[in-house]
Amino acid sequence: MNPILLVVGARPNFMKMAPLHSEIKKRNLPVLLLHTGQHYDEDMSKVFFDDLGMPEPDIYLGVGSASHAKQTAKIMIDFEEICIKEKPSIVVVAGDVNSTIACALVATKLSIPVGHVEAGLRSFDMNMPEEINRILTDRISNLLFTPSKDANENLINEGMNKESIKLVGNIMIDSLLNNIEKSSASKIHNKIKVEKENYALITLHRPSNVDYEDNLSRIVNAIEIISEDIKIVFPIHPRTANMIEKFGLESRINQIPNLVLTKPLGYLDFLALIKHSKVVLTDSGGLQEETTSLGIPCITLRDNTERPITIEQGTNVLVGNKTEKITIEWENICRNGGKSGRIPELWDGKTSERITNAIVDFLK
Ligand code: UD1
Repeated sequence: MNPILLVVGARPNFMKMAPLHSEIKKRNLPVLLLHTGQHYDEDMSKVFFDDLGMPEPDIYLGVGSASHAKQTAKIMIDFEEICIKEKPSIVVVAGDVNSTIACALVATKLSIPVGHVEAGLRSFDMNMPEEINRILTDRISNLLFTPSKDANENLINEGMNKESIKLVGNIMIDSLLNNIEKSSASKIHNKIKVEKENYALITLHRPSNVDYEDNLSRIVNAIEIISEDIKIVFPIHPRTANMIEKFGLESRINQIPNLVLTKPLGYLDFLALIKHSKVVLTDSGGLQEETTSLGIPCITLRDNTERPITIEQGTNVLVGNKTEKITIEWENICRNGGKSGRIPELWDGKTSERITNAIVDFLK
């Protein structure tokens, strides 16, 4: 059997591929792990391999940062050569980053089957580069691994073949459950001097929030107001750090006494921080799911989400990026503790097994 080629590129891919890589290895199937290098800083990439116990990639393309077109094109050129050389039996991509669509497009044009992990999610917001990546990747994938029923419905509404859709559950939760106990050894709370259960955690990196001065400034207003009530931990994504500098917001941010700024954190430290936070404020997709799984209230600083199940069943609330909407939701949580929520079906830690079964069946 030719190898199953798993693609990772950016931070949110690593926790989705680690459990799948491990499951495929466990079954002694041939597998190659390829990292495009879309994310390359040690704290955006290598630390996740270490924390997740994922071996070094077999192939590293080292494409780095660039405009959408340049980054996608560079990945495609290099990945085509790899596919021709390695002749994978299937290419498996995850999520919605540029590496996902780039590698799916190359493989499908070489008549190599494509599996898409986290298929069918839709924000219905074509201003998000991720939404474009999701729709196009799904359209050309042979196996569509969906995390929840809403994703199946989206794919069926788009006319995708029912046979190709496999409801397998949420693979991020495999990583979360595999690592939550290990994360209790993290010393991050001591290191950054915050008391467990008595801080808010914020992450920001969506271009719609951080690339526009007005929007970023409105969120900083909310941070100023909330920090009068509670310590706020803010691990800063490199895109956000660049924008804070560009808009000259550093001195304002540095003056907020209750704000703890850190570099991007590794997986285990970050899991420990989520688990013991009073509330999470975020524009990330994955964090909406991790908070639902851990029962932590989540205030999402976006107008839409491709993960509606976290609102319908979980602890998530959408508020956008207006100062007042954010602070009103914080006050609600202070008053009533936030939504309790429940864990969605098939978010059970066995998604990588179900995906591997489906791949094995498909390749028979
Ligand atoms: C990418 C994904 C986004 C995902 C996010 C998670 C796309 C279109 N976007 O966005 O879906 O939620 O990753 O982090 O694929 N940079 C560094 N070091 C790095 C990587 C990036 O300093 O290791 C800086 C560079 O200045 C770069 C900027 O961050 O230009 C943005 O990186 P990029 O990969 O283009 O997009 P993200 O915002 O990280």
